[in-house]
Amino acid sequence: MSVIMNGKEVSAAKRAQIAKRCEEYKKEHGGRAPGLAVIIVGDDPASAVYVRNKKKGCEEVGFNSWVYEMGAETTQEQLDDLVVKLNNDQSVDGILVQLPLPKHLDEKHVIELIDKNKDVDAFHPYNVGKITEGDYRFLPCTPAGVMEILRYYNVDPSGKNGVVVGRSNIVGKPMALLLLHANGTVKICHSRTPDLKGACREADILVCAIGKAKFFDGEYVKEGAVVIDVGINRDENGKLCGDVDFASVEGKASYITPVPGGVGPMTITMLLENTLKAAQMKN
Ligand code: GUN
Repeated sequence: MSVIMNGKEVSAAKRAQIAKRCEEYKKEHGGRAPGLAVIIVGDDPASAVYVRNKKKGCEEVGFNSWVYEMGAETTQEQLDDLVVKLNNDQSVDGILVQLPLPKHLDEKHVIELIDKNKDVDAFHPYNVGKITEGDYRFLPCTPAGVMEILRYYNVDPSGKNGVVVGRSNIVGKPMALLLLHANGTVKICHSRTPDLKGACREADILVCAIGKAKFFDGEYVKEGAVVIDVGINRDENGKLCGDVDFASVEGKASYITPVPGGVGPMTITMLLENTLKAAQMKN
């Protein structure tokens, strides 16, 4: 049987640490708490849930948080004005613009407008460059959450074959870099990879991030591999599921993350870590 990696447990342990460091930060800064500003534009229900959880996460560790809800008809100029205002607001340490934005707004432009020292998503090209160098002033939240889970379960990527399936800027690319920096030998696979199954079967650590419900069954997994599922999908019955066919892979993998309760809970926790870092960097 596989060990099921409990993201809720890892997340709770990490949040307890962050809460303690937040207390220390406050003592050293006259009671001032780190603060995160979140902007959400439009009425995407999934985004609304994420933003609510980010606010809850801030409250849990003792941060200040502000949520700016803007209507779907918001103009680029209005959004830019708010970002600039938050860039200049000394009480705000981190700024997050929830994605996706409505189609008429330019995501790349907005990300580049955020002060790079407040870019707690680590999406600004400056921070992407820093991560590529191995300088983690801000961590890419989801991949960093994966690395925390691996660390918690004493899985060391050094000398292992890491295979990342999916090449997004948010998950796949930075995930490959973090595994590389931890001395893994890394391959990034995607929709044009020939013999994807064969490539996955070479993985000691397989990270699945393609957004296809239950795509990876036991045939994609080498006996004893560590399987990390970054997908959040709905199955044919509308139930939350990952990219991995859990029932088929459990038993073959040595370790596996479930969905829900695996990587998901870690992402916001790493955002909180970045917000604390932003506050500490400022002082
Ligand atoms: N939408 C889905 N995931 C994310 C994330 O990590 N950051 C932001 N800003 N938007 C998202």
